Amino acid sequence: MKSSVGSSQTRSWDNTLEKIRNNTATVAVIGLGYVGLPLATAFARKGFQVIGFDVDNDKISALASGRSYVLDVPSNAVAEVLSSGSFQPTSDAETLRKADAIIICVPTPFTVDRAPDLSYIESAAKTIACVFEPPCLVVLESTSYPGTTEELLVPILESSGRKLHEDFEVAFSPERVDPGNKLYHIENTPKVVGGLGERAGDLACALYGSVVNKVVRLDSPRDAEMAKLIENTFRQVNIALVNELALIAKRMGVNIWKAIEAAASKPFGFMAFYPGPGVGGHCIPIDPHYLAWKARELGCEISFIELAERINQSMPVHVVRLAEDAVAMSGKKLSESKILILGVSYKRDIDDLRESPALAIIEQLQKQGAEVCYHDPYVPLYRRGTIELKSVELTPETVSSADCVLLVTDHSTLNKDLVARHAKAIVDTRNAFADYKQDNIIRL
Ligand SMILES: NC(=O)c1ccc[n+]([C@@H]2O[C@H](COP(=O)([O-])OP(=O)(O)OC[C@H]3O[C@@H](n4cnc5c(N)ncnc54)[C@H](O)[C@@H]3O)[C@@H](O)[C@H]2O)c1
Repeated sequence: MKSSVGSSQTRSWDNTLEKIRNNTATVAVIGLGYVGLPLATAFARKGFQVIGFDVDNDKISALASGRSYVLDVPSNAVAEVLSSGSFQPTSDAETLRKADAIIICVPTPFTVDRAPDLSYIESAAKTIACVFEPPCLVVLESTSYPGTTEELLVPILESSGRKLHEDFEVAFSPERVDPGNKLYHIENTPKVVGGLGERAGDLACALYGSVVNKVVRLDSPRDAEMAKLIENTFRQVNIALVNELALIAKRMGVNIWKAIEAAASKPFGFMAFYPGPGVGGHCIPIDPHYLAWKARELGCEISFIELAERINQSMPVHVVRLAEDAVAMSGKKLSESKILILGVSYKRDIDDLRESPALAIIEQLQKQGAEVCYHDPYVPLYRRGTIELKSVELTPETVSSADCVLLVTDHSTLNKDLVARHAKAIVDTRNAFADYKQDNIIRL
């Protein structure tokens, strides 16, 4: 790592902008999870000196030994930036003093009563406030409601006695990473950036402009915070709409998947969304709720988000009913059945279990007395409260010993022929078995 940075006398805003523009700035990324690690390695690959800071010592040890725990970042990419000296994983906050820019990528989940839990942002901001050296650009990437950067981040940073626009600048830039997406990654996904003031905008746009092909500049962090919530609320509402249409279509004897494909042949005014067992991940089930929470606080009426949430949350119940129909084919009740779940991560080809619909489905099946096992090559161990399951191998025996095979997530490596050949009954929530014309397949 370079050693000359860190002294406020030698640093000025012009100098910081210059260093960002010629990729010699020191960039710190706070929180090295699904979002932070790909970002940190992207900056390091462009020649920036990158400090990767995380409070999880296991993650820091893994990275320090060149091992990645995020599927989208191969271990050799971590090893490469480590050996070039451009990436320093650490849990020592003191190292943040060297940073010209600090990017916050910590979680924004719910509290126990489903309110926004901003404690991770607060804690990261307090850490930064204690150590940062002016001038410093601080960018928030964690998804939150409009106003978070100005109302939460700025006051914490100012609590150090430092002044906004003199000692530090702030911006919000929402993360759009789509884990498992082979086509779109950091570089070719446009990045929305909203700085608080002209200089913050210039610095943050220059920073991201060095790692992404296109920066979309907005006038304020608030606009950028809202942009992210619009994206994910749009997805949440459209998924809910198509889930409801799927339930109606089933009663009408309509193949919803074929109907959607036909509708999607219209070259304008339609965007295809597909039904499924519910929504999962750290974004779609959570982000719209953040927006609704803030809107409610401001006295606004909320309809779409609440309705969409209700419909999406009801899908696991519907799926369990289909499993009930499936085992009834062999004259059984759920309470005397064995169910093999295929895929428990929240979407295809990733290992993330957060908010996965599989969680609700497994819980309800077990509540009704079914014996549940699962197969997921990405999730070897499933732990939830007192429940602990291990992924079983997909063999003719495991498939045929189940009264129903319930496909929740359609990983692309799934051996569908094997399942189709040996299953007593299949519930297909993703249209994965569209090409199989068997009477024992129940489709969503
Ligand atoms: N996962 C996604 O697909 C995705 C996509 C877009 C946006 N986001 C948003 O990005 C943010 C981060 O999500 P994620 O999926 O990367 O979360 P994650 O849980 O994978 O990673 C967060 C990391 O932050 C660390 N951390 C927590 N508190 C910290 C602190 N005070 N200081 C330093 N490190 C700390 C954790 O140890 C963890 O490694 C969230 O706001 C999320 O909504 C996520």
